[in-house]
Amino acid sequence: MIVAQSADEVRAAVDGAVAFVPTMGALHAGHASLIRLAAGYGGPVVVSDFVNPRQFGPREDLERYPRDLEADAAIAAAAGADVLYAPDVAEVYPEGFATTVDPGPLAADLCGRSRPGHFAGVATVVVRLYGLVRPTRAVFGRKDYQQLVLMQRVARDLALGVEVIPAATVREADGLALSSRNRYLDRPERERAARVPGALRAAAEAFADGERDAAALLAAPDLDGLDLEYLELRADDLGPHDPERRAVLLIACRLGATRLIDNVLLDPDHPDRAALELAAKEPA
Ligand code: PAF
Repeated sequence: MIVAQSADEVRAAVDGAVAFVPTMGALHAGHASLIRLAAGYGGPVVVSDFVNPRQFGPREDLERYPRDLEADAAIAAAAGADVLYAPDVAEVYPEGFATTVDPGPLAADLCGRSRPGHFAGVATVVVRLYGLVRPTRAVFGRKDYQQLVLMQRVARDLALGVEVIPAATVREADGLALSSRNRYLDRPERERAARVPGALRAAAEAFADGERDAAALLAAPDLDGLDLEYLELRADDLGPHDPERRAVLLIACRLGATRLIDNVLLDPDHPDRAALELAAKEPA
């Protein structure tokens, strides 16, 4: 694997149908699974490693966001990446850069309510990175579900010729979804963080037992100790919930200074799947 700082180096190193995994670095086993999924398509895999200033709000964690290129390179190489693309800010946003990609009203909903401008920042950098890397596929984790749906929409609406591939969430033994921000949690916060997948699990178990009423599913979790931002049940395209269709239950909350998000798909054709996904496992 090579580490490249310019798009010219990236394009000189890869040929054919590129599968792209955009990241902000601080790679963990969740990113490794995205990279393995990308590698499974058989073509070259490019992973970007760029902490995008445009998606952070003024009081967010841009400055303290973890950065460790050497550790990222080891994880990306082991998972099957061909190129780790780590551009600087001037390469991604050169002098005079003035375009913003506005992904529409869904960007102001759910996480967008507390993070105004966040998804425009994400969409802008992702479209810019597509232009630099020229992939035919891009892999996004289901953990950031609203981001995934928005990036599918942007690719479709702008006819970018990039197929957006969703990847399953990787979880700790107690169900906590892997996230680069989990490393901010102190010990008591980490223990309390298990209540986030626990809340989803309670609703998933009610769903597996046949509950289909939205109010009852939303009442199933015990949210004690969670500084809840939202718990919402939506159709899987994030439109209004319809009990006949595949739904997604989404949660966002804060533990101290750390904001955590998670979600689970509730599929009437596979009613047990969500509870199984969230079942606590023996630690490895
Ligand atoms: O999910 C992320 O890590 C970021 O939002 C992304 C897609 C790499 C854009 O900066």
